[in-house]
Amino acid sequence: METNSHNITLLGTGLIGVFYAMSLHGQRGRDRIKVVYSRSMERASQFAGDWQIPHACTDMDEAIEHPETDVVIVALPNHLHLETVLKAAKAGKSILCTKPLGRTAAEALQMLKAVEEAGVFQGYLEDLCYTPKTLKALQSVKNGALGKVLWTRSREAHPGPHSEWFWDVEKSGGGAMIDLACHCVEIGRNFIGKDIRPIEVMCWAATQVKPIEAEDNAIALIKYENGAISQFEVSWTYRGGMDLRDEVAGVEGVIRLDHFLRTGFEVYTATGEKGYVAEKAESATGWLFPVGDEVNALGYPHMFTDMFESMDQEKAPMETFYDGYIVNAILDACYASAKSKQWELVKLEVWRGRNDVSADTSKAEYDVDHYLMKTELLPDGRTKTVIKHKQTGKLREVIS
Ligand SMILES: NC(=O)c1ccc[n+]([C@@H]2O[C@H](COP(=O)([O-])OP(=O)(O)OC[C@H]3O[C@@H](n4cnc5c(N)ncnc54)[C@H](O)[C@@H]3O)[C@@H](O)[C@H]2O)c1
Repeated sequence: METNSHNITLLGTGLIGVFYAMSLHGQRGRDRIKVVYSRSMERASQFAGDWQIPHACTDMDEAIEHPETDVVIVALPNHLHLETVLKAAKAGKSILCTKPLGRTAAEALQMLKAVEEAGVFQGYLEDLCYTPKTLKALQSVKNGALGKVLWTRSREAHPGPHSEWFWDVEKSGGGAMIDLACHCVEIGRNFIGKDIRPIEVMCWAATQVKPIEAEDNAIALIKYENGAISQFEVSWTYRGGMDLRDEVAGVEGVIRLDHFLRTGFEVYTATGEKGYVAEKAESATGWLFPVGDEVNALGYPHMFTDMFESMDQEKAPMETFYDGYIVNAILDACYASAKSKQWELVKLEVWRGRNDVSADTSKAEYDVDHYLMKTELLPDGRTKTVIKHKQTGKLREVIS
């Protein structure tokens, strides 16, 4: 296989810019950031020095069009994604954009159309679909370990974001939901099947604590055409660190994932270690829950590997702008439902998945005449089996 290397323009030097630089330059990778853009030269130069990046600049156009780079990574606040993606598409660069793709589905669709018209490579940087645990769990689901997936639950909750723009609904496009549920929605889609159409949503969202116009807490149910339901829970006011958990339940099994606060690494310190513990950690003393390799645990290296290998093989990566658009459309419906207090349809101007799906479930057979309801070993050692006659519907117990 041909092994190209890529030269990257990184737009943004905030929290996600740092995680991306740690992922790309932290190990002996061959893809390098060659140009970094930040609003202040002081920050751009400091970042460039930290990560051995040859060019630092404060001119966005110059950064995007820089002749030494072939890839642009958008790591800027949400209100700048559309504008920068359009510029990068015009410059003919491969584009990787962080989550959420847009503030709305309309913005995301504009981006999708622009990159497809320009014919450039594009990827949606949805790292939480690439955590090693998630990738392994997805493979188990694909291998049939759970049978048909019926329900997914994804939870992202923390004490609130670290920069002013997140709290400004104009810039972010919403609150905890646009910021965190974009991850949860896409995790659910991956487990249920990305070709299964999301139909409608029911959402509760509220501003319970913070003095903001947007929601600081939300819960939603997303119904899929095959009958599966995907649930998310998000919070910007959850105390004690960042809670990242997923559950998947199928006819034949379940998977439970804990990505952060409980990863099997627990520290008690009376004195503290006087430094960073983990993203959104609230304390540095007492019981601490660090993450051994945070960048890896959150999926960034696997995500970039998929992006650059897909680029080289001229194929679509696992997460694309189209996926980002579907996520935005689901979130638009969630916002509408939170307002109307009704189930709201997911409006998809573009749908590339299946249209032939029904919600039928297959029923387990006991024998030719009966369905098997349940078998259980009782405390006294007997086994009880509940069966149902296919024609009469009569229920019966068989003890053995
Ligand atoms: N897991 C993830 O994938 C993940 C995690 C965090 C953030 N993000 C996403 O990354 C993006 C940036 O978030 P962040 O946490 O790095 O934010 P941040 O506030 O830490 O950094 C934002 C960067 O953009 C720059 N910036 C801010 N306003 C600007 C403006 N008006 N013009 C030009 N530059 C401006 C800042 O100087 C900074 O370099 C957001 O879209 C966010 O949703 C993704």
